[in-house]
Amino acid sequence: MTRPEDSASRRPDATRPVAVVVLAAGQGTRMRSALPKVLHPVGGAPMLAHVLRTAQALSPERVVVVTPPDAPEVGEAARRLRPDAVDVPQRDRLGTAHAAQQAREALAGFEGDVLVLYGDTPLVRPESLAAMSAARAEGASVVVLGFQAEDPAPYGRLIVEGGELTAIVEAREATSEQRAIRFCNSGVMCVEAARMWTWLDRVSDDNAKGEFYLTDLVAIARADGARAAAVECPEAETLGVNSRIDLAAAEAAFQARMRRAAMEQGATLAAPETVFFAFDTELAADVSIGPNVVFGPGVRVETGVEIRAFCHLEGCTVASGAVVGPFARLRPGARIGAQAHVGNFVEVKNATLGEGAKANHLTYIGDAEIGARANIGAGTITCNYDGFLKHRTTIGAGAFIGSNTALVAPVSVGDGASVGAGSVVVEDVPADALAVARGRQEVRPGAAARLRERLAAEKAEKAARKG
Ligand code: UD1
Ligand code: CA
Repeated sequence: MTRPEDSASRRPDATRPVAVVVLAAGQGTRMRSALPKVLHPVGGAPMLAHVLRTAQALSPERVVVVTPPDAPEVGEAARRLRPDAVDVPQRDRLGTAHAAQQAREALAGFEGDVLVLYGDTPLVRPESLAAMSAARAEGASVVVLGFQAEDPAPYGRLIVEGGELTAIVEAREATSEQRAIRFCNSGVMCVEAARMWTWLDRVSDDNAKGEFYLTDLVAIARADGARAAAVECPEAETLGVNSRIDLAAAEAAFQARMRRAAMEQGATLAAPETVFFAFDTELAADVSIGPNVVFGPGVRVETGVEIRAFCHLEGCTVASGAVVGPFARLRPGARIGAQAHVGNFVEVKNATLGEGAKANHLTYIGDAEIGARANIGAGTITCNYDGFLKHRTTIGAGAFIGSNTALVAPVSVGDGASVGAGSVVVEDVPADALAVARGRQEVRPGAAARLRERLAAEKAEKAARKG
């Protein structure tokens, strides 16, 4: 039973403000890239965005990103997610404690918890951060996120004695006994803000690397009579990216996580290992996805939708019961209505397909509005671009567009109208009208036979002249 004074004494902890500091000053030399390392994407979003999205779960009051010098694009990327994020360049890269120090000014006056994350470690889950917050609430001034390492070689070892975290020892400083420890430092740390800066001032660079180690905070805090604690998470969350090979491993781990989540939430994946999601893909229950489907960012799929094999979707919505593919491409701004069909080799961009509309084969629909139940024949093209500007095509409810029609925008076809196959439509078609815009057919009886005879005779004559 909880006594009233217990809950009262705990309440301030539960609402203690959080500030996030993302260490992202690494040059990422091994990426061999002009792009700052933390902006390389996983699941269609920069690694930095993953870290910030995860941190958002704690509703931080302030966000500071420590960046490489001369990389304003890192701060800009952070502000796309957190408009108030502050970026501070770290001029000399003197170690993780030195990096954390750079946030001091931006966090002036802040009281609460400072959560330190790495920008190149995108897979940490919000649940792990919540567990760290809980450990802070229980009184530890420094909380470290640890994991059991398959191969502990490169990591700082967490020294736990009698259930208390007493120190973090970097691999280079570890004794052979300490090196046998597999419980390692992920780098994620949560520290009581009020004391963090004085403790950081006491970190020295008197060690094998000649760097200021953030990990020294544990022993320094304890020397000050404060407590430290370690919280454990699965190793998969702590994967750090230093090379393109690590980036591919992070992508694979992220995709495995998304596939599992999609299936847990009620989607059927016929061949999960061939389906690729973006960080923000939203699937309702009872969505069925065939093999080899790729989701770019910004896709929302409603219930009962079937996405058949080999489709590519990005920035689009697919309403309930629609069928997409096989081999369909939905580009940004595609809005597929309920029960609509988008078939093979159909591309839709910035266009709405009304409820029950069908575009089943070999079609481009760009910058268009297609009414409910309209039928778009095979090979229909909206000619939306004149070389200078984009123009819109509007097709009414129940309209029928014959195969191989070119709709030269801006143009509209009214409700219930029909367009003959092979038409080039340059003028609006009123509702319920039939438009045929192609050369009129001419039939000459016997003409083909006569042509054949004439050509055969010419060929024979030529052969005779040669021989
Ligand atoms: C660090 C930890 C180690 C932990 C490991 C997990 C220290 C001293 N060691 O080691 O205990 O097991 O991470 O991967 O903290 N960074 C800066 N500025 C700097 C230095 C680092 O922004 O001056 C950033 C890096 O970009 C990187 C992160 O901090 O994202 C960690 O730095 P790194 O040099 O990779 O630390 P490790 O030696 O791997
Ligand atoms: Ca590292």
